[in-house]
Amino acid sequence: SIVSTKYRTAYHFQPPKNWINDPNGPMYYNGIYHQFYQYNPNGSLWGNIVWGHSVSTDLINWIRLEPAIERTIPSDINGCWTGSATILKGNRPAIIYTGADTEKRQVQNIVFPKNVSDPYLREWIKPDNNPLIQPIGQGLNSGQFRDPTTGWIGPDGLWRIAVGAELNGYSAALLYKSEDFVNWTRVDHSLYSSNASTMWECPDFFAVLPGNNSGLDLSAAIPNGAKHVLKMSLDNCDKYMVGVYDLKSDTFVPDTILDDRRLWSRIDYGNYYASKSFFDSKRGRRIIWGWTNETDSSLDDVAKGWAGIHAIPRTIWLDSNSKQLLQWPVEEVESLRSEEVSHQGLELKQGDLFDIKGIDTLQADVEIDFELTSIDSADPFDPSWLLDIEKHCREADASVHGGVGPFGLVVLASDNMEEHTSVHFRVYKSQEKYMVLMCSDLRKSSLRPELYTPAYGGFFEFDLEKESTISLRTLIDRSAVESFGGGGRLCIMARVYPVTLINGGTRMYAFNNGTSTVKVPQLKAWSMRRAQVNVKKG
Ligand code: FRU
Repeated sequence: SIVSTKYRTAYHFQPPKNWINDPNGPMYYNGIYHQFYQYNPNGSLWGNIVWGHSVSTDLINWIRLEPAIERTIPSDINGCWTGSATILKGNRPAIIYTGADTEKRQVQNIVFPKNVSDPYLREWIKPDNNPLIQPIGQGLNSGQFRDPTTGWIGPDGLWRIAVGAELNGYSAALLYKSEDFVNWTRVDHSLYSSNASTMWECPDFFAVLPGNNSGLDLSAAIPNGAKHVLKMSLDNCDKYMVGVYDLKSDTFVPDTILDDRRLWSRIDYGNYYASKSFFDSKRGRRIIWGWTNETDSSLDDVAKGWAGIHAIPRTIWLDSNSKQLLQWPVEEVESLRSEEVSHQGLELKQGDLFDIKGIDTLQADVEIDFELTSIDSADPFDPSWLLDIEKHCREADASVHGGVGPFGLVVLASDNMEEHTSVHFRVYKSQEKYMVLMCSDLRKSSLRPELYTPAYGGFFEFDLEKESTISLRTLIDRSAVESFGGGGRLCIMARVYPVTLINGGTRMYAFNNGTSTVKVPQLKAWSMRRAQVNVKKG
């Protein structure tokens, strides 16, 4: 088999071996960050799911602990699935998670730390009253009822959680209420429901302040002007709606409702799913974690002995336009930067390739500012592209000259360019505004057959009155290429398996293939050191 240890990431989160999926119950508690995750202790395919557990003081270097929640009781014997942590009054953490019970019904269970004075909270105990919540009630489907959120306190002082569910065949974030976090009753309406889709997995509900990147604690008082975000996982991607949490009706009211779910905003336009956020009280920010699966075959995963990583944790906040979430890798990742190269005042004419040399191109952090010299040549925007952006990325790929763009970055390229991955932009003129397309095209990423190699893409709005520079930040970590466009307006996470990575070095270039010249006032790139990710046992 051609699979290689060289595809293992050097600074993304993963255990030493085996399958992982969703991030679970992230929290900051008494000086320690906890990350739990869906984990198969017995192999590199999904199954036998328990909660893996790791701890950290910087979100980048992790100490591996024994699994925190294992399949031990009738209400979780067929799987300890996704859930969330909440810090209760008196600084007492609790985790509510989904169990697959003896009949494979989905139920919600609770665990508490055995000993809160253990700084790592290694052991968690299951009280006898599990399961707390059964899939009983009008319109519920016991096989589509899972992934409880972090709790918050409503206007009546009672706790609430939302649970992802299929309700009468449609999607819903069901609402449950409790006084003591243990005895729960279903509220007669959902937090939000939609007939535009079926089951929603992994709902996440949080408050944000427009234009302010400090995070909010959902169970503290919500300041004036705050908005709420409901995130849901469906169609292999994480989507979200921005709106308000209406205290009178106790529901989430989106600012805009789009019937066609292909048009819903996405947390990430690449390979990123089941994300979950938490309030980091140490730094006063909200952090979101997401799962990125392999895109090689199951046979490859068995041969490698591992599958799945988590994206770099991102600070997440709301743009001042109140429409769009912004995300940026937590600044702690910058502690891994070593050799730096930096260039100023470059100019890229049509067809130019600028070779970025002097750093480790397999483990790198790259930041480039592209400055547009002429916007008049921008091609017209066609709104129908929004219905299938990947199709548009395939048709208007990096080799197709446009008015403004494509320009961007080529990474993990072989000497002869037979293998390469490009991350690039194109600027289009819409009615009164400009629309920027960002693509991450994996179709030439590897000569190996049987890989999933789409051309991912998304659009964001661009205000030429206020800005003339489009920034790109890309984190390269062997088989991971994680990109942030427009200062975090659009994110694309991707996995690639180039053959040239096994045989030796790869190359990296900045390029422009548009007819108008783009300037690069600033280009910086760093080699990234290996992090201590779960290599040490605590
Ligand atoms: C999402 C998901 C969740 C479920 C878990 C099981 O990836 O399907 O809905 O709780 O994974 O591992």
